Amino acid sequence: MNLCGEKVILRAVEPRDLELLQRWKNDPEVEFFQGESWSPPVGKKAQELWFRSHGWDSRTMRWMIELRGRRPRTVGYCGFWSVDWKNRKAQTGLVIGNGSDRGRGVGVDVLRTLADYGFRELGLNKLYACIAAYNKRSLGLFVRKCGWRQEGLFHQSFFRQGRFHDTVQVSILAREVARRNRE
Ligand SMILES: CC(C)(COP(=O)(O)OP(=O)(O)OC[C@H]1O[C@@H](n2cnc3c(N)ncnc32)[C@H](O)[C@@H]1OP(=O)(O)O)[C@@H](O)C(=O)NCCC(=O)NCCS
Repeated sequence: MNLCGEKVILRAVEPRDLELLQRWKNDPEVEFFQGESWSPPVGKKAQELWFRSHGWDSRTMRWMIELRGRRPRTVGYCGFWSVDWKNRKAQTGLVIGNGSDRGRGVGVDVLRTLADYGFRELGLNKLYACIAAYNKRSLGLFVRKCGWRQEGLFHQSFFRQGRFHDTVQVSILAREVARRNRE
């Protein structure tokens, strides 16, 4: 189902999104901020093939991020990956595709909306994310703004621009969000 935040609607990926997704996938800046995740160049056909081969998959849930308003605009994508239904945890990620849409509070709204759905509807216990140690904006969003805990550091876990970089794992538990909502 669609998820509604204060500023955003999180909705299904549609064929009309493929051009945007392909552009962001090929954008060096987006790949830089995504840390460990990397990809060869993705052409139109490959993007279409990806869309056709990604139907319902119980370990992955993806949404496009649409800004609410009279003229809704798609600004990014987000989701849960590696959903582990037995241990009730999932990896969480989000990308605001264009630089001009970043730093305007969209990320906070998306992350809170995802956490609310993950804990209060899916019954998950833990959400975690892996962030490049140099991605200060993302760390600011997860840790300072949304109260996720920094729980681990993976030394030299990916190679970029000629050297190795660390990855920070952050997480939050259902009970921590519930406690915060009560306060
Ligand atoms: C990281 C990202 C998702 C954050 O979303 P956003 O909409 O830009 O973030 P918000 O505007 O909601 O900002 C939330 C908080 O992030 C932090 N932040 C924002 N810009 C920052 C900057 N330039 N430097 C450090 N922290 C910053 C602040 O704590 C901010 O809180 P504030 O409102 O008190 O300043 C988005 O910038 C993005 O998609 N970047 C590229 C891809 C990426 O890094 N994805 C995450 C991979 S883990």
